[in-house]
Amino acid sequence: MTRKAIEVKELNFSYPDGRKALVDINLDVYEGEALGVIGPNGAGKSTFLLHLNGILRGNSKIKILGIEMENKSLPQIRSRAGLLFQDSENQLFMPTVFEDVAFGPLNMDLSKDEVEVVVKEALKEVDMLDYIYHHPHHLSFGEKRRIALATVLAMKPKILLLDEPTSNVDPKHRRDLINFLKELDNLTKVIATHDLELVFEVCSRVALLDQGRLITSGNPLEILKDKTLLAAHSLEVPRWLSS
Ligand SMILES: Nc1ncnc2c1ncn2[C@@H]1O[C@H](COP(=O)(O)OP(=O)(O)O)[C@@H](O)[C@H]1O
Ligand SMILES: [Mg+2]
Repeated sequence: MTRKAIEVKELNFSYPDGRKALVDINLDVYEGEALGVIGPNGAGKSTFLLHLNGILRGNSKIKILGIEMENKSLPQIRSRAGLLFQDSENQLFMPTVFEDVAFGPLNMDLSKDEVEVVVKEALKEVDMLDYIYHHPHHLSFGEKRRIALATVLAMKPKILLLDEPTSNVDPKHRRDLINFLKELDNLTKVIATHDLELVFEVCSRVALLDQGRLITSGNPLEILKDKTLLAAHSLEVPRWLSS
């Protein structure tokens, strides 16, 4: 029987200024599932993802691979659920690409040689090995995004939480990323995105958020073809799907 990778019960969250960003979210994600999270700007997609590895804490019971989210389980949860931030600037803070990607693995029990292998593998996966000794802040948005993804992959997480992984990424590397995500079919993925082609190709289920609420979740093709539903939430059926 497939196990639940992520369990979210009655998640409510308001930012300190009082803005209600998530309202009564109930959602389970099973191991190996790829869940696309779609919705207009401000729907709460990023806020939701930030709860899944405990960066934000609403008043909810969240379980990750059966582990309850609480202060003492955060390190365990973060080693299993890796988050790609919407803004890569929040993910890169070391003087070189190597050090940024090595940061997580160095905190696991790996030797220096093992860390180097893991870092190079992760950089190869995002086609950025040539940039290993570059300064992350001198890279383009799309390059930073790919390095940020390498920092996540280098931790070898069981759950990938990706916030707009293809935004600002050029068409070739977007295509490479989509194909790469399709191949990672043993991992559980939650992907917040406006890239509906990515959702269609990679995701086994879609959740539609708007104004902090889970509007519906279900089969990607059914939801992506539902003109009335999408229009009601500031989205549109992709041209390649409308007949
Ligand atoms: N740090 C913050 N402080 C106050 N409000 C915020 C903050 N971050 C996001 N919000 C608000 O919370 C809501 C959800 O934002 P967000 O999760 O970023 O949506 P999405 O990722 O779907 O675009 C929005 O109304 C946004 O303005
Ligand atoms: Mg967002």
